[in-house]
Amino acid sequence: MKKKFLSLFLAGAMLMTAGLAGCAKKQDSKKIGVAMPTKDLQRWNQDGDNMKKKLEAAGFTVDLQYAGNDIPTQQNQIESMINGGCKVLVIASIEGDSLGTVLATAKEKNIPVIAYDRLIMNTDAVAYYATFDNYKVGAIQGQYIIDTLKLDSTSGPYNMEIFTGDPGDNNARFFYNGAMDLLKPYIASGKIVVKSNQIEFETVATASWATENAQSRMDAIISGNYADGTKLDAVLCSNDSTALGVANALEAGYTGDYPIITGQDCDIANVKNMLNGKQSMSVFKDTRTLADQVVEMVKAIMDGKEAPTNDTTTYNNGVKVVPSFLCTPVFADADNYKTILVDSGYYTEAQLA
Ligand code: BGC
Repeated sequence: MKKKFLSLFLAGAMLMTAGLAGCAKKQDSKKIGVAMPTKDLQRWNQDGDNMKKKLEAAGFTVDLQYAGNDIPTQQNQIESMINGGCKVLVIASIEGDSLGTVLATAKEKNIPVIAYDRLIMNTDAVAYYATFDNYKVGAIQGQYIIDTLKLDSTSGPYNMEIFTGDPGDNNARFFYNGAMDLLKPYIASGKIVVKSNQIEFETVATASWATENAQSRMDAIISGNYADGTKLDAVLCSNDSTALGVANALEAGYTGDYPIITGQDCDIANVKNMLNGKQSMSVFKDTRTLADQVVEMVKAIMDGKEAPTNDTTTYNNGVKVVPSFLCTPVFADADNYKTILVDSGYYTEAQLA
């Protein structure tokens, strides 16, 4: 009797353990690694939060890591995601070229990789890319300068300066080319003058997209070219963090009429600047839309299906053309911010006050 009870007890215990192990295994089999570059910029915090929330709502567990814009940290984080049993990796790289080695390990272990917002370069380990139409972001900025300065109906010349992003971020060239393909003819004809003579991508790049780096370059440009009251008409800034640096420098060292300043991301500080007349426009990239799209990709991959894409020609990472889904960027300024940012629930009016 006693023996029978003991064996029943043991059998029960074994079943329970098996159940628990099964449960843990099930959990593990749905783990997704999400690697984000930095918490320094507002947008990546939103991207990370959205991805975690939406993946969890879809039944996945999430290992979300931020790398403080430090490349070795990001490499280590991805390695630990691979060793920790993540089934899919979603990566917004700090530097597109620095992940080849760690992603070779992911490939060996059959862990598919989705490049998030920024393309990962020179590796065949990237399965998909989800981003916004980055060339179009630049084109929206360039066209805005053309329209606002009325370049086609006034004689000018107009003074313009140029700020783009980190040269290790593949997006930076797309933003730059999108704008400069439109603006270069006006520079060539002399209607736009870049007094600093800093025009080529390498000379107008901003390391780490850092506000301070843009600010110190703008400080030097002002003191060399505009300190005598020469009017600056426009500053093409590829994104909001560089636009903020330019605005800070203007505030400190420029006395003329405030120039047109472009941006991208609709960060809170920049929306405030738009409302105060210190930034002319931004490009809104709804990180909720991007996260939705990436969750769809993850679901498809986990179901063994092809992920949805809408561009199979544009994004060559040096080894392959990566099938991509491009979300649509939207022009934003002080006139439409309420509809696209507040009514859509992206920000509350209080956050922008
Ligand atoms: C993103 C931009 C962002 C920039 C700086 C780019 O890769 O597409 O939205 O402003 O990085 O973080």
